[in-house]
Amino acid sequence: MTISVQNPPADPTDARTALADRLALSGEAQDLLFRQARSANTFTDEPVSDEQVEAIYDLAKWAPTSMNNQPLRIVLVRSPQARERLVATLSEGNRAKTAAAPLVAILAADHGFHERLAKTFPHFPGARDLFAADDAMRAQSADLNATLQVAYLILAVRAAGLAAGPMTGYDAAALNDEFFPDGGHKVVAVVNIGRPGDDAWRDRLPRLDFDEVVTTV
Ligand SMILES: Cc1cc2nc3c(=O)[nH]c(=O)nc-3n(C[C@H](O)[C@H](O)[C@H](O)COP(=O)(O)O)c2cc1C
Repeated sequence: MTISVQNPPADPTDARTALADRLALSGEAQDLLFRQARSANTFTDEPVSDEQVEAIYDLAKWAPTSMNNQPLRIVLVRSPQARERLVATLSEGNRAKTAAAPLVAILAADHGFHERLAKTFPHFPGARDLFAADDAMRAQSADLNATLQVAYLILAVRAAGLAAGPMTGYDAAALNDEFFPDGGHKVVAVVNIGRPGDDAWRDRLPRLDFDEVVTTV
């Protein structure tokens, strides 16, 4: 199987080591999803189609959420007017690249996810009422699981051979007022998506080592 990585950054820290051979996934696929995948800051003009997004979601949807609650909602910002309204809510440093990205998605947590539990968790009919009765628990579960789904979506974007530029640098209250005025959805991230441009990358930043992160008890 040949997997082409788009514009892999020439950074020696991304090099595959012998540890890659301990995994079931091919080294090329590991590179595509993790080692050579970067957070892009510029993109080419190549459009990202609804068909590509459909395939990306169709992969990401299988990754787990608690009680299978799937609170992520995705707003594709396609019109120039909507793009302008979004950019106005972003921090200064995120504005130009978001104005220019081929596709921008607002990723939000649906705090009314419990209304779909009859479909997604049918073997526990009491699930909807459990969450309906506790706003704080529902909000916490919506935000946690939608955030997980953001991560899954980023990896699925990479699996499509595209790059993601995730951002949380925005005025969340302003963004929510602008796009989710009913108050039932809360933004968890904004993501630029496309083929990375030539100057897409900042320097690769160090990652923590295994020993700094993992303890065994
Ligand atoms: C949840 C999240 C929020 C982020 N917010 C921003 C942001 O607001 N602006 C920005 O330029 N980069 C943002 N980033 C990009 C990170 O800075 C970047 O992923 C990190 O430095 C690692 O870079 P690399 O993926 O290219 O190795 C964000 C990343 C994530 C996952």
